[in-house]
Amino acid sequence: MPQRFGIGVIGYGYRVGGLVSQLMALCREIELVSVCDPSPDSIASARAVAPSVEVCTTPEELTRNPRVGWVLIGSPNSFHREHATIAMRAGRHVFCEKPLATNLADCLAIRDVVRETGKSFFFGLVLRYAPLYTRIRQLLDANSIGEIISVDFNETLGFNHGGYIHQDWRRHRAAAGTHMLEKCCHDIDIVNWMVGSRATHVASFGGLRYFIPANRTIADEIGPSPTGRRAFQDWPQTKGDPFTLDKDIVDHQVAIIEYASGVRASFHTNCAAAIPERRLLLLGTHGAIRADLHTGTVELQKIGWDEPRVIYKVTSTLADHAGADAQLVVALADWIIRSAPPRTGIDHAIDSAVTCFGIDAALDERRVVDLQTLWNQAGIRH
Ligand SMILES: NC(=O)c1ccc[n+]([C@@H]2O[C@H](COP(=O)([O-])OP(=O)(O)OC[C@H]3O[C@@H](n4cnc5c(N)ncnc54)[C@H](O)[C@@H]3O)[C@@H](O)[C@H]2O)c1
Repeated sequence: MPQRFGIGVIGYGYRVGGLVSQLMALCREIELVSVCDPSPDSIASARAVAPSVEVCTTPEELTRNPRVGWVLIGSPNSFHREHATIAMRAGRHVFCEKPLATNLADCLAIRDVVRETGKSFFFGLVLRYAPLYTRIRQLLDANSIGEIISVDFNETLGFNHGGYIHQDWRRHRAAAGTHMLEKCCHDIDIVNWMVGSRATHVASFGGLRYFIPANRTIADEIGPSPTGRRAFQDWPQTKGDPFTLDKDIVDHQVAIIEYASGVRASFHTNCAAAIPERRLLLLGTHGAIRADLHTGTVELQKIGWDEPRVIYKVTSTLADHAGADAQLVVALADWIIRSAPPRTGIDHAIDSAVTCFGIDAALDERRVVDLQTLWNQAGIRH
């Protein structure tokens, strides 16, 4: 009889439900033993992949099951602290979706429990597993553009994606944190990784100018989709009108970041872009790299006379984060079955969260924020 590896899930929604289905398809030894989720629809999805799954009403009940060795957390962000700490204190290894938590105190409380329990903590910064970013990191490691001087990057979302965000629990800061934290912590993490340094100063402007009641008529102007769905509400999980629902997140934001290494970066996000992009432009002393996850293209150009432009085509199927989901699932399987240490852990989680908290403080308070206070609170020297 082959060894079985039992997992439990707290928050079996769209994201972690999808990862678990892929994980179980990849590894028959991995078994979904227990699930905790208040939604009957989510429980039905869990039962579709594991008909005899135990259904728990509390995370404590889930972690009492001795067959659960690993807990995967896919609940809304404001629950991550409670769910992660309960699971680790009960002796379980934890995979937690991004962002770590909605405020610094909760992030640091999770890190304290990681340190205190010594449990393995796998953090869901999926873009680090995307072949496109791995290729860029390899080019930087090969010194292809010399020292990075400045960076420009963005995450502009297609209108149905933005519409989804503005009708979901993500539209409330109490549940999700800010848009910068909830959605763009990935992009911030990628630039932290490429630059290899921590942000020291940030400034930001942003607001809500698109998903407001006055713009509801834009959906009428565009008309229904070929399948008869209203514009901005074409995602299967969409439940309401993103223009009229109450919300307290932004729909567009710009930020500038200065790193300890001297690198300066600018970032732009927008939730209703006719041209969606996840573009990254790195300008170095000896060359430039320009990439876009949507087109799956990485361009490398050296500074010099008649230098050729080298173009790498990488996977660009956005439904699975450009190939990153499949790589993440392989890493999850290695973590569970072979105890392989995760590539993305608590330190990456804290670094991206602190940078986002600083950017949002800059936006809210309309000032340049020196991140030293936040790094000090996090006990991090840079
Ligand atoms: N890495 C990525 O690219 C990525 C992509 C999407 C979502 N996420 C993250 O995954 C998490 C879930 O997002 P989603 O899109 O799956 O949302 P979702 O709404 O589809 O799923 C959330 C699930 O949590 C359940 N839930 C709510 N309150 C709960 C509670 N108190 N206890 C247990 N379960 C509870 C809901 O019923 C639902 O099933 C979020 O943290 C989100 O930021 C990450």
